[in-house]
Amino acid sequence: MGHVLVTGATGGIGVALVGALVEAGYRVTAVGRGVERLDVRGVEVDLAEPGTLAGAVGALQDAGELEDLRALVHCAAISPVAAVADAGIETWQRTWAVNVASAAELTRLTIPALRRSHGHVVFVNAAPGTTGVPRWSAFAGSKAALRELADSLREEEAASGVRVTTVYPGPTATDLLGEVRSAFGRPHDPELCIRPQTLAAMIVWVLSAPADAYTSELSVLPSPR
Ligand SMILES: NC(=O)c1ccc[n+]([C@@H]2O[C@H](COP(=O)([O-])OP(=O)(O)OC[C@H]3O[C@@H](n4cnc5c(N)ncnc54)[C@H](OP(=O)(O)O)[C@@H]3O)[C@@H](O)[C@H]2O)c1
Repeated sequence: MGHVLVTGATGGIGVALVGALVEAGYRVTAVGRGVERLDVRGVEVDLAEPGTLAGAVGALQDAGELEDLRALVHCAAISPVAAVADAGIETWQRTWAVNVASAAELTRLTIPALRRSHGHVVFVNAAPGTTGVPRWSAFAGSKAALRELADSLREEEAASGVRVTTVYPGPTATDLLGEVRSAFGRPHDPELCIRPQTLAAMIVWVLSAPADAYTSELSVLPSPR
């Protein structure tokens, strides 16, 4: 099945995704902080410092770990809730570094291996229609940039056979969602949300597309109840 690099692997969706990928037969390497606590190989990197990715990926390359690289899933993100009038420069820099620049840099560093395997890059974006939300501009703006990154990459790599998919998950029952809704003063019932395992299964499905077609964008909503 091949090797998949996953960021955000320690998060609510990421843990479920790693489990689903392993279950499907993929070899998984988690890229991020505190990854030693997972049951898969880990590469310790702070994605707020995208400049450190080159060394980490170089070490994987030198160890021959990218020979069978099949896919990259960008799942890491932070989601600060602050008005433009209140958010300091650190908020913007950190959000851009984790949510956008690290994804671009990790893609750049692994694209030669992904071209060889005609591999797949998956970007986990935000809920469909996340735009113009008061007190969420850093997050919403970073996800808009992530969509542009994905759309440009899809065009750039079409000739090399690399597939690019953006997944837009609706509310998914993780701690992050609970914290964000609490910060917005909104009610939160995890039972009404998508289960992380369900979203993970859909991402594995995206990766398992046959040779002649694939899903470029996938919006996932909780079923009406
Ligand atoms: N949950 C939802 O309803 C929902 C809806 C739409 C989209 N999404 C997207 O789905 C993805 C996963 O969300 P989630 O709910 O699973 O969130 P989560 O539980 O907070 O997971 C976020 C992940 O990103 C990692 N991360 C954050 N800052 C990092 C840094 N500086 N260096 C390395 N890793 C870092 C976290 O690791 P640490 O523990 O080390 O911080 C964690 O593994 C995100 O892209 C989010 O925007 C979620």
